[in-house]
Amino acid sequence: MAGDTPWDKGEAAPPLLEYLDEWDDGFVDGARILVPGCGSGHDVRALAAAGARVTGLDLSPTAVEVARSHPAINGEAYVQGDLFDWSDDSSFDAVWEHTCFCAIEPEDRSRYAEAVARWIRPGGRLIGVFYLDPDNPDGSPPHPSSKAEIERHLAPSFSLERGKVPDRAFPSRLGREWLAQFVRHG
Ligand SMILES: C[S@@+](CC[C@H](N)C(=O)[O-])C[C@H]1O[C@@H](n2cnc3c(N)ncnc32)[C@H](O)[C@@H]1O
Repeated sequence: MAGDTPWDKGEAAPPLLEYLDEWDDGFVDGARILVPGCGSGHDVRALAAAGARVTGLDLSPTAVEVARSHPAINGEAYVQGDLFDWSDDSSFDAVWEHTCFCAIEPEDRSRYAEAVARWIRPGGRLIGVFYLDPDNPDGSPPHPSSKAEIERHLAPSFSLERGKVPDRAFPSRLGREWLAQFVRHG
């Protein structure tokens, strides 16, 4: 996916690895996790390697094709679909968010929050690294956001449990991201 996918760094998000090393309390192992906007699936495979049962969802057939070309680690699955109207027969224990929220148009953020709330069971988690402050000179994605805005969109269904600026990041994103864990209301 080189060329038109500058966001594809060829490896899992460093903040995800930080989350798994430092914050995961045993929740991920065995959890059913959805990764919306999964791209070529690096984060899906990192979560699968940590024992999760992972589904990657992406609008792009090419992304899904590339993701599926990698050998599965723990039965991970990839689905092509639009997050705004996609749903599954059963709910997920968690969603992992990474550069999907910033890829959608800002006016669609409340619909994103509604979709995430639809997917996650009560008591489940939205875990994500939000790219708050990307270079965005021409107004095209990635779109900036703020912690306050993210919390406001999620507030109807989620409470913030913890958040930090991750220590580990791709070099161009260092200090510009927010690693956060929300819990779905009952
Ligand atoms: C910036 S890329 C990030 C991919 C991956 N998270 C990564 O960092 O490698 C955003 C991804 O979101 C997908 N995407 C954008 N809008 C979407 C939608 N409405 N439904 C599902 N996927 C979407 C794009 O196709 C793209 O693969």
